[in-house]
Amino acid sequence: VSDGLVRRFAAARKDRSLAVLEGFHALKHAIRFGAEVTEAVASDPQLLERLARELAPDLAGSMAARVSEVGEEEIGELAPLAPRTGVVAIARRPAVDVAAMIADMRPAPLVLLEDPRTMGNMGACVRVAAAAEAAGVLTTGENDPWHPDALRGAAGLHFALPVARVDSLPEGERPLIAIDPEGEDLRTGELPRRAVLAFGSERYGLSPKLLEHADARVAIPMREGVSSLNLATSVAAVLFSGAFEPSIG
Ligand SMILES: C[S@@+](CC[C@H](N)C(=O)[O-])C[C@H]1O[C@@H](n2cnc3c(N)ncnc32)[C@H](O)[C@@H]1O
Repeated sequence: VSDGLVRRFAAARKDRSLAVLEGFHALKHAIRFGAEVTEAVASDPQLLERLARELAPDLAGSMAARVSEVGEEEIGELAPLAPRTGVVAIARRPAVDVAAMIADMRPAPLVLLEDPRTMGNMGACVRVAAAAEAAGVLTTGENDPWHPDALRGAAGLHFALPVARVDSLPEGERPLIAIDPEGEDLRTGELPRRAVLAFGSERYGLSPKLLEHADARVAIPMREGVSSLNLATSVAAVLFSGAFEPSIG
């Protein structure tokens, strides 16, 4: 096992300018959405070609050439849980302009995750936000939304929309909608298309400060006895709820 390779991947895991991509789907999405991949290694480059032909024809013919071949045991040294597709890579994180994200005039909501705790949840939120063409995902709290485990949960879709951690929500003229089990049933009103949709942490929900600042508080209806939905599930339910105001034009 090459020490240099192991060291570079270990350093990349801690480097907030880099993203570690684990598995075929993460690498596929990163490439498709324009990531600058600086290093990629795979135990079976021909498997990547077969997967690309089946699942990503847009990348077929170029996958094997993008990776250097290493042994299977080497892949095990580069990721805590070796991906079954035997590929890991390092890419540069794109620069994110948070002010531009807030000012973005397209009729698309921004997802704000307040102090999310679970990497898999953060990744699943990014994945569904990308699918729903949200304007971006912002997180508060200590956790890095670009952590390799979050990237794995998002299948690399961090490259499809802006994703950033912020200390607090920057000012802007987007309406702030608190998504909270104690809110008004989301079916009874219309969500502004450019809203900041704020979701709370897995254990504690939204902070009193955020609830106080919110322009409205909206709930996903649930059967009696169910206390709440999982964070990422609630992001999916709201983004695909059809509860947004009609687009103009
Ligand atoms: C697991 S829940 C937090 C549960 C927390 N004990 C609470 O009471 O808010 C995580 C986040 O998902 C969202 N959420 C979950 N179920 C919801 C529902 N039925 N309506 C609105 N938001 C919900 C909220 O943003 C919540 O803060």
